[in-house]
Amino acid sequence: MVVPFYDFKSLHNHAFQQLAKERISKILEDNSFVEGEFNTKFEKDFSSMQKNNHCLLVANGTDALEISLRAIGIKEGDLVGLPGITFFATAEAIINVGAKPVFIDVSPSTGLICPKSFSRVASNYSLKAVIPVHIYGLPAPISEVEEIAKLHNISIIEDAAQAFGAFYDKERSFPVGSGKNLVTFSFYPTKNLSAIGDAGAILTNCSDMAEKIKSLRNHGRGSTDLVGRNSRCDHLQAAVLHLKLQNAEKLNDQRKNVAKLYYKHLSEISNALPEEKFLELSSWHLFPLKLESVEVRKSLQKRLQEADIGCAPYYEKSMSQEPALKNFHGERENAEKLAGRVLCLPMTPFLDEKSILKVADNIKMFFETKIKENFQLKI
Ligand SMILES: Cc1ncc(COP(=O)(O)O)c(C=O)c1O
Repeated sequence: MVVPFYDFKSLHNHAFQQLAKERISKILEDNSFVEGEFNTKFEKDFSSMQKNNHCLLVANGTDALEISLRAIGIKEGDLVGLPGITFFATAEAIINVGAKPVFIDVSPSTGLICPKSFSRVASNYSLKAVIPVHIYGLPAPISEVEEIAKLHNISIIEDAAQAFGAFYDKERSFPVGSGKNLVTFSFYPTKNLSAIGDAGAILTNCSDMAEKIKSLRNHGRGSTDLVGRNSRCDHLQAAVLHLKLQNAEKLNDQRKNVAKLYYKHLSEISNALPEEKFLELSSWHLFPLKLESVEVRKSLQKRLQEADIGCAPYYEKSMSQEPALKNFHGERENAEKLAGRVLCLPMTPFLDEKSILKVADNIKMFFETKIKENFQLKI
């Protein structure tokens, strides 16, 4: 039995394909290729689901970050903080607007931005903005970040590319992005809410900001002094996203159930899993397992792959270890120690208990062998 890392076959099943084809045919008949009725519908429904005032669709999650940085006036030479553990696009967006990334260290247990490190970095560098990242779908400690940012007059852009379905509170009343000034999402095909190509979005609570973003994503249209770009979202992608939105909460709940089963069947190695409080908070975009060393991660990865279990390391390098970012500064110790040690397990809304048991049994057998070899599980 193969346990896939992603499961596009179940996601894009026959029923979904029929509905998607109807929408695609209508777009072809209407010749409404960009920014059509489904863009407007999606923006309305997504902002209301995420409890914010405005949603602006853009071409992808990286553009969502770049446009947000430009919307708050980040320019050549400005310093922008980001956590050491994230996908490269977070740093790329900062550099592509001419600004300089400054590394903020992460909490060793989660890989999320460490408020203490942010406070030190904010005192030592004159940051104009900070991009906390909800990595793996685990919500970053936003209230603490907001307090520090306020003290130093730093703007916040939340990178929620992996966090559609995550909540700030365990009662699940405040979805990530709710009420905030700037929050970005990616709808890349592997994400919890996915296009059948590229797409992204920005949430904002501010009408002026929404107008500016609308103009920036479409060549500065509607404004006399903005130089924008083309980051419009195709109508076809918006139509698919709007269709998938109908089922999105259910699929996120199914991901949470998968996570619950991992906690149940991997209780012997609970210190390798995210703290259990995240069960209600995370979007469970990924299920990260934190190993003692890069060598242990590599050998577990090999073992799982040999057993036809999909898995992947996220991330092999911290931002400060990326060769292209070697000239930038900040705090880096925990992020560099964590890099390469996280192995993500299969996580799709469609995993059944039998598959999860197979993953868990293989992991447990791996550690039993290691313990026989006198290996100590210290994470
Ligand atoms: C944390 C993070 N930020 C930004 C992005 C960029 O999104 P996109 O690939 O849609 O440009 C991604 C995509 O994987 C991501 O994971």
